[in-house]
Amino acid sequence: MGTTTLEGTARDLVAPGKGILAADESHATIGRRFEPLGIANNEENRRRYRQMLFTTKGIGEFISGVILFDETIRQAADDARPFVEVLVKEGIVPGIKVDRGTKPLAGSPAEQVTEGLDGLRERLADYKKLGARFAKWRAVIAIGDDGRTPTPLALEANASVLARYAALCQEAEIVPIVEPEVLMDGGHSLERCFEVTEATLHTVFDALWENKVLLEGMLLKPSMVLPGAASARQAPVEAVAQATVRCLRRTVPAAVPGIVFLSGGQSDELATAHLNAMNRLPEPAFWPLSFSFARALQSAPLTTWAGDATRVDDAQRAFRHRAHCNSAARAGAYTAALERSAR
Ligand code: 13P
Repeated sequence: MGTTTLEGTARDLVAPGKGILAADESHATIGRRFEPLGIANNEENRRRYRQMLFTTKGIGEFISGVILFDETIRQAADDARPFVEVLVKEGIVPGIKVDRGTKPLAGSPAEQVTEGLDGLRERLADYKKLGARFAKWRAVIAIGDDGRTPTPLALEANASVLARYAALCQEAEIVPIVEPEVLMDGGHSLERCFEVTEATLHTVFDALWENKVLLEGMLLKPSMVLPGAASARQAPVEAVAQATVRCLRRTVPAAVPGIVFLSGGQSDELATAHLNAMNRLPEPAFWPLSFSFARALQSAPLTTWAGDATRVDDAQRAFRHRAHCNSAARAGAYTAALERSAR
C-alpha cells in the first residue's frame, strides 16, 4: 500500500519538536475560562483571544496543528486574513472539532455518550473546503468511586461512535484524532485509572478495526494514567510516565503514527513534566509521544491577556514559553532552568 495524504498529514502533526494546540473550546467551555477573568463571552472577544494565540510570532516552531471550533474556522484576524490562512502561513495545519458534545447515555444515564454523527459527512466536506486537514472527536469516560462505572455499555457506545467518526473523516481525506478521555475527576487510584484506560483503549481499537479505519492515517489523543484528582495518594511523575506508557504498549498498535496527549486539568507544569518523563523512559515507546493540550498551553496566556489589548505581547510571550517547554518535553529535554527562563 502506498503512502496516502492521510499518513503524510498525520506524520506532519507529530513532527519532531512539535505538538498540537487545542483551541476548539465550545462557547460554554470558553465562557467558563473567561468568566473568572471578567471577560465577556461574546463573538468578538472569542475572536480577539484566538487572534492573540494564532498571531504569536514564530509559534510554528513548536506547534504543528491547531484545532479550531466551528465559529473560529470562519473568523479572520484584524487585517481581514482568515485564521486558516494565518495558521497555514506559519506552517501550521488547521484542524476542526466536529463532535457536538456529550449527552446522558440512554441505558446508563449517569454516563455520557458523544453526539454529532448526523450530517457529519456533509459537515466534513464543508470543513475541508474551509481548509481543515484534520479533525477531533472527544469521548468521555468517567470513573465512579463506587467501582461500577464505566459500564461495558458506555465503553462500547463511545468506541462505536468514535470509530464511525474516524471512518467518515478518512473517507473525506481528513485525519481523525481519536480522543477517548478518561476523566481525572474522583478519588480513584492510579491502578484503577490504568485498568479503565486499558479497557477503554482496547474497546476503541477493536471498533476502529471493525470500521476499517486506516491506523496509519489517524492519531490517538488519550489521557495520561493518573490517580483521581481527589485521591489522597498522588503519584510521582515517574510512576505516571511508566504506567501511561505501559498501558499504551498493551493496547495501541505500532501502526499508529503518533500519540498526542490531552492535559485534562493537570497544572501546566505537571502536564509538561509527565510528557517529559515519558520521553525519558529507558525503554522507548513505539510512537512519537506528543501533546494536544488546551488548558496546559492556554492557562498562562489567557490569564496574562485577560481581555486587555495592551497585554497581547506579554500573553504571546507566555504562550510561546509554554509551547517551547512542551516542545522540549517531546525530546525529554524539559528542565527547571527552561521553565524558569521566561520569568
Ligand atoms: P485539555 O488539554 O484542557 O484537556 O484539552 C484538550 C482537549 O482538546 C479536550 O478535548
